[in-house]
Amino acid sequence: MSKTSWAAVDDYIVGSLFEADPVLDAVLAANHDHGLPAIDVSPAQGKLLSLLVCIQGAKKVLEIGTLGGYSTVWMARALPVDGKIVTLELDPLHADVAQSNFERAGVSERVELRVGPALQSLAALGAENAGPFDLVFIDADKPNNPHYLSWAMRLSRPGTVIICDNVIRDGAVLDQGGRDPNVEGARAAFSFIGGEKHLDGTAIQTVGAKGYDGFAIAIVN
Ligand code: SAH
Ligand code: DHB
Ligand code: MG
Repeated sequence: MSKTSWAAVDDYIVGSLFEADPVLDAVLAANHDHGLPAIDVSPAQGKLLSLLVCIQGAKKVLEIGTLGGYSTVWMARALPVDGKIVTLELDPLHADVAQSNFERAGVSERVELRVGPALQSLAALGAENAGPFDLVFIDADKPNNPHYLSWAMRLSRPGTVIICDNVIRDGAVLDQGGRDPNVEGARAAFSFIGGEKHLDGTAIQTVGAKGYDGFAIAIVN
């Protein structure tokens, strides 16, 4: 199987199971028009995130790494009317595009976008006692994964679900030696989850429109 057939099967999944979604198409078009990198989750992964928000019954979601808000819109749509997602983004251009996408998607009342280095925004959320969040999606600069996991723990409760994107990286997660900081970030996520007695986790390898990668998923106990 090649990347082409993984993408074709993703098209089959989306074509068979999803309604046409002009709003999400417009979100991706706006991202492209503003020159954002096409590193959003795939449609099938976005739907998985929204299902996890539903399954968890989450009312408060934290996302680290907004980009143009494609994953944010998927999760925001799965929240109840009194639910909220706080999403953290470093790049002001990404944040501007994301904010207009939230308005386009009709979810801006449920989304709070904080612009700046996520570690600073997380410290502020901690100081404000903004937790506990019911679900946390970590998808920003990979070398900071252990810091983001640590903050996710501090802003959690027993039962909180933590998801970390891009932890397989074409299988490069097996490479030792620290040559690629993104791979080191993936390995650091495994070390953190494996070493934290209050986290019970697994990782799911994924193939599809975005190639071969995977999510780590853990629950706080
Ligand atoms: N979750 C998005 C994709 C996020 S891409 C989706 O699936 O649609 C990663 C994002 O993290 C980029 O927009 C990048 O600017 C942002 N980022 C990188 N370093 C960051 C930092 N230190 N703090 C906050 N955001 C950061
Ligand atoms: C990259 C980042 C991501 O979050 C992703 O899902 C895919 C690629 C990247 O930085 O290349
Ligand atoms: Mg990602």
